[in-house]
Amino acid sequence: MNDPNGLVHVDGVWHAFFQHNPEGIDWGNMSWGHASSVDLEHWRAHPVALRYDDREQVYSGSVVVDDHGTLTAIYTSAYARGIQAQSLAVSDDGGETWIPHSGNPVLDRRSSDFRDPKVVRVPSQSGRERWVMVAVEAVERRVLFYASDDLRTWRETGSFGPLGPDGVVWECPDLVLLPQDGDPAQTRWVLLLSTNPVGTDPDPVGSMMHYVVGSFDGETFIPDREELDRFDHGRDFYAGVTFDSAPDGEAILLAWMSNWRYAHAVPAATWRGAMSLPRRLALRTVEGQPRMVQHPVASIEGHLSHATLRAPSEPITLIPHALIEVGWTSLPAGGVLLRLTGDGDENVHIVCDPANAKLTVTRGGTAARALHTDFPSSSGAPLRRSPGEGRLFVSLDGPLLEVFADGGETTVSILVTLEGESITLTAHADVPGALDSLTLRVAEVGARQ
Ligand code: FRU
Repeated sequence: MNDPNGLVHVDGVWHAFFQHNPEGIDWGNMSWGHASSVDLEHWRAHPVALRYDDREQVYSGSVVVDDHGTLTAIYTSAYARGIQAQSLAVSDDGGETWIPHSGNPVLDRRSSDFRDPKVVRVPSQSGRERWVMVAVEAVERRVLFYASDDLRTWRETGSFGPLGPDGVVWECPDLVLLPQDGDPAQTRWVLLLSTNPVGTDPDPVGSMMHYVVGSFDGETFIPDREELDRFDHGRDFYAGVTFDSAPDGEAILLAWMSNWRYAHAVPAATWRGAMSLPRRLALRTVEGQPRMVQHPVASIEGHLSHATLRAPSEPITLIPHALIEVGWTSLPAGGVLLRLTGDGDENVHIVCDPANAKLTVTRGGTAARALHTDFPSSSGAPLRRSPGEGRLFVSLDGPLLEVFADGGETTVSILVTLEGESITLTAHADVPGALDSLTLRVAEVGARQ
């Protein structure tokens, strides 16, 4: 799999569709796979929802649920003749079977790189709701905005970009309304966007996801600042989008945990590619600016109530499916290093150094080097420069490592190559006795499905 597609909550069930090759473990034959969950933690696989054919591949897109419970998928038809245009399909059985619209494609600019439609319901000034679509002209580095009353006829209302580094394509936009500082009455619009390097000498850091806070009047998006902010600071967090119709208007996001730089080389068994933990999004004012905050959803955090307190001065053996929470009242200069090791020399270092306002997550070892030249890497992320209390939350789910710091203001998500049935976690600090001020809680959660 690659991108999450058509994330939707309907009749108490979370549906995740995704870019999928039904016939192999490499990218190709693009179709929509389908999974569903009642708790965002355990997932059930369903038959392929939208299948490619000789004429078209089914690229990324979204699903919305209308007032009658009918699901409409809006996706990119990537035609064999080289055009990308937007098409519709409808499902009346909760996403199991789909009927393509007879008038497909519904939106065609005769472009070869017009893709990834995300449709959101937006209140209009008349009080009636209307549909807004964001999609990209990928090579032009532009997000286009369209409006519709019936999902079939679309009117272009605005565009955003290009800005930021060139030598990339823009992909998988989303437009989300987020509460600021925990106040549901105080909301801002946020544009989400993923960028992927292209060309002859592409940036080896590869695929990245970004966000831009701004205003949206139903037609055009005006950014607060002409800048893209990193959404997650790890190497493996891409194409993230939110669920339509989540309860209480919450924004819950899934992203693909890989990087086009080496996705083809990631070891595969019967599958290749996986999603991040679902994350609840919000904004928090930090140094006068609205900043994205991400929380793993409650059902996941719920496992920490079964967590055991462990002595940070001793190495800890874990199964490779665990949640780890480290807390402190003050950290010494140099911070703390958490080291995860598997069989052999594979290792992951998480260095949390609030005194220098820096979190660094490094992966290395023979298997990491063998995977791809650019796979061994170090991801740096900003931390609050706070000498006081703090907390770090780490989820390890097989090859997926997600680190949440500063109450979700900073996240680092990467694939890791730790091998073996058990993982050793060791905490280190340069200052003698420093580990005594840490609390360490660990919950082994078993392999999630
Ligand atoms: C992003 C992307 C999308 C496209 C899909 C094809 O990862 O390149 O732009 O719709 O993947 O699989």
